Amino acid sequence: MRHGPAGHFYCQKAFHGLTYAALSVNGDENFREGFTPFLPDCRQTPFNDLESLERELGRRDVAAFVVEPIQGKGVNIPAPGYLREAARLCRRHGAIFIADEVQSGMGRTGKLWASEHFGLVPDILTSAKGIASGLPLGAMIARAELMDWPAGAHASTFGGNPVSVAAALATLDLLEGGLVENAARVGAHLMSRMRDWPRRFPQVGEVRGLGLMIGVEIVDRLGARESAHDLRDQLVQMAFERGLLALGAGESTLRLSPPLVIGIQQADFACRVLEECLRRQDRTLCRTAA
Ligand SMILES: Cc1ncc(COP(=O)(O)O)c(C=O)c1O
Repeated sequence: MRHGPAGHFYCQKAFHGLTYAALSVNGDENFREGFTPFLPDCRQTPFNDLESLERELGRRDVAAFVVEPIQGKGVNIPAPGYLREAARLCRRHGAIFIADEVQSGMGRTGKLWASEHFGLVPDILTSAKGIASGLPLGAMIARAELMDWPAGAHASTFGGNPVSVAAALATLDLLEGGLVENAARVGAHLMSRMRDWPRRFPQVGEVRGLGLMIGVEIVDRLGARESAHDLRDQLVQMAFERGLLALGAGESTLRLSPPLVIGIQQADFACRVLEECLRRQDRTLCRTAA
């Protein structure tokens, strides 16, 4: 029997932003500290865990399940079939399936939406970031029957800013004119160069990603004193000093999220820099351990 009020589900390690409602479905406690109270009845379920999702959907009245098709924090890729099956479960239980494509969308993964890689058709899809190439804009895209607000019910002063909208239209032209394919092509090239890093560098546990959304998992296999988190931060700094901007994502992942205009030569530069950093770091760690 179902009990409890209508709630929302989100995934462990999820990141959906730092505004009030987004924080209510944020899987990282560090971001939430100091901002309570949150929206009631938002509950976590582990990413990639269908059993737990099904159990919870059966137990209570769930309004929506919100998930990033590829989690930005850690660049976590869904297990085969997970998203489609999760969407099917949501449909069966009357919950709305929301795909947050703020980071993974707009061509980044080599398709316009990451959902397409997984045969996923969400009820609602959110987009921002790359949508207007840096100008502020966000979009919520949904089936017509869900968009039944009366005119003006969800207006805001800066919503639909004409300059941002013009930038978004120009961005879409560029994506359709070749940048989505470029993301797929250069992403595949990067992955082919980085695939053997776990074999070559003891501090690389895994390289994963799709298109130009790539994560390098840093591990601490050498018994060095620093945690993998510190090793990752050190790599980000070393790369910065050599002219490459990378970002940490999650606990111990180094994230590569280059602009979609990147070419093969620039990708090779990034690989060379990171390989040099990994080699140097490995040598230093070996010396420290000796
Ligand atoms: C997946 C995802 N959703 C939502 C957001 C939040 O977007 P904004 O900063 O525009 O609120 C981000 C930002 O990093 C994100 O990566």
